[in-house]
Amino acid sequence: MTASGTFGYGTEYSHLFDIQKLGAIVCKGTTLKPREGNPQPRLAETACGVLNSIGLQNIGVESLIKQKALIWASWRVPVIVNIAGETVDDYAQLAGKLDGVAGISAIEVNIGCPNIKAGGAEFGADPKSAATVTAAVKTATSLPVLVKLTPNTSDITKVALAVAEAGADAISLINTMKGMVIDITRRRPLLGNITGGLSGPAIKPVALYMVYEVAGAVGIPIIGCGGIATASDALEFIMAGASAIQVGTASFTNPRSPLDVLQGIEQFMQQEGITDITELIGVARG
Ligand SMILES: Cc1cc2nc3c(=O)[nH]c(=O)nc-3n(C[C@H](O)[C@H](O)[C@H](O)COP(=O)(O)O)c2cc1C
Repeated sequence: MTASGTFGYGTEYSHLFDIQKLGAIVCKGTTLKPREGNPQPRLAETACGVLNSIGLQNIGVESLIKQKALIWASWRVPVIVNIAGETVDDYAQLAGKLDGVAGISAIEVNIGCPNIKAGGAEFGADPKSAATVTAAVKTATSLPVLVKLTPNTSDITKVALAVAEAGADAISLINTMKGMVIDITRRRPLLGNITGGLSGPAIKPVALYMVYEVAGAVGIPIIGCGGIATASDALEFIMAGASAIQVGTASFTNPRSPLDVLQGIEQFMQQEGITDITELIGVARG
């Protein structure tokens, strides 16, 4: 899958390669009303990754349904809509509006955006709030519900157990890790929002560890994400217990990377004589 916020609405990439071959496309985080996002600058390159503070710039759920879902309905690749809100009711309303819309295959609930002032990360840091959001979304929709966890919490396993208990169909992890950069010439934080979310190769070992931990604790499928750029990165996550993976920041340097990763996994399976990917899920767990 593609990771939310790094692949637009899929349409932006469709002229670059055959996106229909992907497992799924996760679109940019969607809110009830359109958002312009945070002040610039919103991206900073770091030694081993990227800091972003986009602040959920998006077209809003009504335009998404009218303009994007119509296009997605003609695609073979399933599209998963990532949603974010400031209150539990926002999440429930979003899920209700997306329910039954042709072209939308599932909902990914972002309870860990570090770049917005209200809501977002607060829900993902606390098991009880995370469970409340999950239950509200599940009640509002018949679509499969993936809950996307934040690493910016003291115990991600507790949050994972709480959302699984509340009815999540799958868990995706991880979202970005909170960080910052200071511009020493201006003597001020570089990002307009002061802090941002770190992604890319820098977070891969952390994400992998969290997938390993969470996969050992819950009984629902895990979707691994964080610094995956190659098939071998992806295979590490699968061997740690992920049933699927998402490619995010890697698409900025190589837009084809989600497909390259998928084809690389297929190649590895052929080399190893494996016909079913489930033979690899969690094998590193012993
Ligand atoms: C520019 C940018 C925008 C993002 N926007 C969202 C978003 O709207 N919703 C969300 O759940 N995650 C968002 N993310 C987080 C990614 O989906 C992913 O969880 C994270 O970047 C880690 O994966 P990666 O290292 O492969 O990029 C964003 C990441 C980046 C870099």
